[in-house]
Amino acid sequence: MAGRWKNKLRERDVTPEAIWLNRRALLGGLAGASVLAAVAPGRAQAETLEPNRWEEITAYNNFYEFGTAKDDPAKYAGQLTVKPWSIKIDGMVDNPGDYALEDILAKMVVEERIYRFRCVEAWSMVIPWNGFELADLLALAGVQSGAKYVAFETLQRPEEMPGLRYPVLEWPYVEGLRLDEAVHPLTIMATGIYGKDIPNQNGAPIRLVVPWKYGFKSIKSIVRITLTDTQPPTSWNKSQPSEYGFYSNVNPQVDHPRWSQAYERKVGQGLFASKQETLMFNGYSDDVAALYAGMDLKANF
Ligand code: MTE
Repeated sequence: MAGRWKNKLRERDVTPEAIWLNRRALLGGLAGASVLAAVAPGRAQAETLEPNRWEEITAYNNFYEFGTAKDDPAKYAGQLTVKPWSIKIDGMVDNPGDYALEDILAKMVVEERIYRFRCVEAWSMVIPWNGFELADLLALAGVQSGAKYVAFETLQRPEEMPGLRYPVLEWPYVEGLRLDEAVHPLTIMATGIYGKDIPNQNGAPIRLVVPWKYGFKSIKSIVRITLTDTQPPTSWNKSQPSEYGFYSNVNPQVDHPRWSQAYERKVGQGLFASKQETLMFNGYSDDVAALYAGMDLKANF
């Protein structure tokens, strides 16, 4: 992981929502200088777009553990207990164990690795996340040399998650990344939005964000991370393998079998707003295309 981009923003520098919303003031003032200094590679595109409003980000979600309607998560996720929380990290790591989220966050604060990411979600939302790089969490666990993939698992707590009663997916919800994707600096463990704790419906207290992949790769409320040498299963691929592949990179040239993915519309602009062309890797090509050099992305969709 030598040469990785190093974040210089401290937690106290995180911009309050009111300032964040007023981008003109932000860019003109001193606060803007520190925020821009923290811009991660690949964020150039995201930096030019207005973030979606809190209401848009939190009212319309998929989190099937709470039901399959888009407003079910906002209705039912409030009952989820998110404190205390720990993540089991196991498999091919030097330090397997249960990591308390509090301890993880304390370490990230001390090492100045908590910061703000503004990213374009592949649901056509622009979300100002707070969090840290997944690479920094994996570094705590010490990834062993033979590891090639990272598997993720969501909490499965039927008393608080009414959607688990329905076999719409195989529970628990699982996801996976190749190790090089997982340690890329754009791969985020998000714990907040707009500087506030992440709302339950968005995956509290900790969820994955992979800006160049479709939104369903962003597994929520993570309780387990396993390092392996074999490609792990993913919930959507298990459920509909012809529709959802392991990689799920945003790619306008590869259509979903039932709809085109060449165009998208930013959420919040209304159904009559004009659609925009979907960008390869969701606009992050300069940063991530090299990960897939030589791969047939139609076969590895
Ligand atoms: N994670 C879990 N555990 N359960 C889910 O049903 N849905 C996925 C993903 N993560 C889901 C999940 C899908 S389909 C999408 S589009 C995103 O979460 C949407 O989340 P967001 O709008 O809060 O970013």
